[in-house]
Amino acid sequence: MSFESEIARRRTFAIISHPDAGKTTLTEKFLLFGGAIQTAGAVKSNKIKKSATSDFMEIEKQRGISVATSVMGFEYGGKMINILDTPGHKDFAEDTYRTLSAVDSVILVVDCVKGVEEQTEKLMEVCRMRHTPVIIFINKLDREGKDPFDLLDELEEKLKISVRPLTWPISQGQTFKGVYNLYRKSLNLFSANKSKISDDVIGLDDLSDGKLDEMVTPKFAQELRDNAELVEGVYDPFDSQLYLDGYLAPVFFGSAINNFGVQELLETFIEFAPSPTPRPTKEREVKADEKKFSGFVFKIHANLDPNHRDRIAFLRVVSGKFERNTFYNHVRLEKKLRFANPTSFMANEKNLLEEAYPGDVVGLYDSGNFKIGDSLTEGESLNFVGIPSFSPEIFREIINKDPFKTKQLEKGVEQLAQEGVAQLFIQQPGNRKILGVVGELQFDVIKFRLEHEYGAKCDFVFMNMHKACWVSCDDKKKLEEFLRRKGSNIAWDKDENPVFLAESAWALRMAGEAFPDIRFHFTSEFKEETLVDTMMLR
Ligand code: G4P
Repeated sequence: MSFESEIARRRTFAIISHPDAGKTTLTEKFLLFGGAIQTAGAVKSNKIKKSATSDFMEIEKQRGISVATSVMGFEYGGKMINILDTPGHKDFAEDTYRTLSAVDSVILVVDCVKGVEEQTEKLMEVCRMRHTPVIIFINKLDREGKDPFDLLDELEEKLKISVRPLTWPISQGQTFKGVYNLYRKSLNLFSANKSKISDDVIGLDDLSDGKLDEMVTPKFAQELRDNAELVEGVYDPFDSQLYLDGYLAPVFFGSAINNFGVQELLETFIEFAPSPTPRPTKEREVKADEKKFSGFVFKIHANLDPNHRDRIAFLRVVSGKFERNTFYNHVRLEKKLRFANPTSFMANEKNLLEEAYPGDVVGLYDSGNFKIGDSLTEGESLNFVGIPSFSPEIFREIINKDPFKTKQLEKGVEQLAQEGVAQLFIQQPGNRKILGVVGELQFDVIKFRLEHEYGAKCDFVFMNMHKACWVSCDDKKKLEEFLRRKGSNIAWDKDENPVFLAESAWALRMAGEAFPDIRFHFTSEFKEETLVDTMMLR
């Protein structure tokens, strides 16, 4: 197969949702369709149960599962599909945001009973930021949920994206009859059956056909006719370009647990979803079909066995062909590296990989060369952007409890920060180490891992902090003055960029008013031309 065809047949995406909406179930059904697994239940739930806040074994178990399911590759309908897994627990949301930098599109699962939930909104914000194409799957139609029109309005309003239903449910809950595919003009009749594999699809071009009344009862047939008419009147015809540009989300209805509407979703997904898309670098845009290899690291996973310090760095191939045992340029370190044992992932299996194409994810065994965001190329100096750090929300100063283990603690903290478990900020004088995280659970993980993997003991001191903002200014002198005058609130991130630690939203606003030339940013990557994120300062 030609290089171009290999690229064209790849679909790299993530399934995302608020916990419990059905992400794991849908992933598993996709794998069943792809023949990557044979039985339901083969994919372990990739989530830490809410009750397990301090259950370290659960966290460790979870880490084991998440290596195995980091990437699930399989073939379907001639396409090569890579599903990138994301943690379900909100405390590990940063991991999810980073993984989203490595996909070309997403499927967003929404529970029809609960509608749009908090985590759904946050994930969608990240997708919007990058114009990632989104398909929405409204799940659990076998339950009494919200009215479909209300759900669509809620999606548009809370997710700030236009939607276009491509299927329409015929009733729901106890009387759920199935969905009508408005796009393909076919009827998919529902039967509650968890072991069923494919949808029973019946062609039905004309909804006024009397057959419909027989199949779903005259009452529901009429309801469907009315609703379909309303949909066609309210929504513009589906425009696939708007979807690819990230402005319009096609919507599907179904029930993942009953394997209902899943095949329909998968078939439409492979038809519309983009093949590997270009990626921006500081230098230029890199296109998938460029002959020379390039890629970036979006995730680092430590070995579960503390006796083996090596880690797996997950690299997304952006352009060209990656080959085993070939020297590549590690751009940040300006070092040539080659990999004897790169790994590919085919559902729960790890295999030695000889070559990989754009859109693929390669697992590289690493003894400490990689940081998240690092690039590998055939020589050109390319620095991929779009893998920013987000301002954390919870801050603690880390205190060494064993002076004889200072080195171990330093190394451990640095490596965990490289893995992205937490963000590390250093404050002077005194080299104070401040850790910023999204969720409390991350502190438990850090403490546990420092002790078990590095033999270091630490305590955390609570810090009453609201946000860490990256700062910039056109005038270097003014920036220096700001950093000097606000010294006690300034720290430095892993790349030695200054951040302003704001104690409250009020303090941030005051700083903004006192230093009008300083720009405050809530992600580590920002375009210099954008003005202060005034929204946030209000
Ligand atoms: P998540 O990964 O998004 O967190 O969700 P997950 O797939 O684990 O699904 C959450 C719960 O919702 C599970 O039930 C799952 O069985 C259920 N579920 C998924 N799809 C459907 C559906 O179409 N209809 C209905 N009624 N339920 C669905 P659980 O009781 O939490 O777990 P389990 O014991 O069933 O595994």
